[in-house]
Amino acid sequence: PRPVVLDLDPGHDDAVNILLALASPELEVLGLTTVFGNVGLERTTRNALITRELIGAAVPVYAGADRPLVVPTISAEAVHGASGLDGPSLPTPTRGTEDEHAVDFIIRTVRARPGEVTLVPTGPLTNVALALRLAPDIAPLIHRVVWMGGSTDTGNWTPAAEFNALADPHAAHIVFTSGVPLTMIGLNASHQAIAHPARVQALRALGTPVGEFVAVLLEFFAGHHLERYGWDGGALHDPLTVAWLLRPELFETRPMHVEIDLTDGPSQGRTVADVWRVTGKAPNAEVMTDVDADGFFAFLTEQIATYR
Ligand code: BDR
Ligand code: CA
Repeated sequence: PRPVVLDLDPGHDDAVNILLALASPELEVLGLTTVFGNVGLERTTRNALITRELIGAAVPVYAGADRPLVVPTISAEAVHGASGLDGPSLPTPTRGTEDEHAVDFIIRTVRARPGEVTLVPTGPLTNVALALRLAPDIAPLIHRVVWMGGSTDTGNWTPAAEFNALADPHAAHIVFTSGVPLTMIGLNASHQAIAHPARVQALRALGTPVGEFVAVLLEFFAGHHLERYGWDGGALHDPLTVAWLLRPELFETRPMHVEIDLTDGPSQGRTVADVWRVTGKAPNAEVMTDVDADGFFAFLTEQIATYR
């Protein structure tokens, strides 16, 4: 199995990504590392512990950065509720985090398995950037970074910027200029993966506690999307990362040069993607462009069905 570390800020779609990854025998999930983002670090960490508890998984959880490198902290309670995981009733975690800091865990793990470990961040890139700064030797040892964030077109938190990119643009800059093989799954792709009511119903129809948990999560998550965009479902951003690793045939990607706008103004945090190759700069990312949404939701439902 392919060794991965999920770095996340759960978050409804992050939690679904944990469930998707841990259902997959093709992956060896070495750890869950948490970062501030949708809500504060204490809550994103608690939500990772809750999600692990729900399925009785043994995967270790490591808490990471509680703030961005340079910019002031933002959060997304408006989308995910005060807990970061509003909607279903949440169990109380009986086990806590490991003592090691998430960034130290990432460095240690990448060094221990040179060339093998794929990092899958679905929040601000702060932990990954800190690891690259503290231990620059790991850059050539990381197999790939598969990030949900950014967009080739418009943002969702400002007109220009997607939330994960905006939350720590300097961290994104460090990762995008590190030379590490990188996949960017941005809003231009994730807005093709809408959890319409029929797709949620398919999860509920599994008749299992985890199927019901995911259905309730997605119903809550739909609320913001209806209000903001008039859509009848939430965009299931983060699970596209693990789905791409496991079923790449469901997606199209294209190599592009992507630069992060760090200027202090209305475009800060924009992932400026050279879609038409006008800069002549060498691509630094595989950028997802198309999603087979029916195939993706069928795959997700199949994987969630493995929890009995
Ligand atoms: C991203 O921001 C968060 O709210 C979601 O979890 C996702 O990672 C989408 O912009
Ligand atoms: Ca997220």
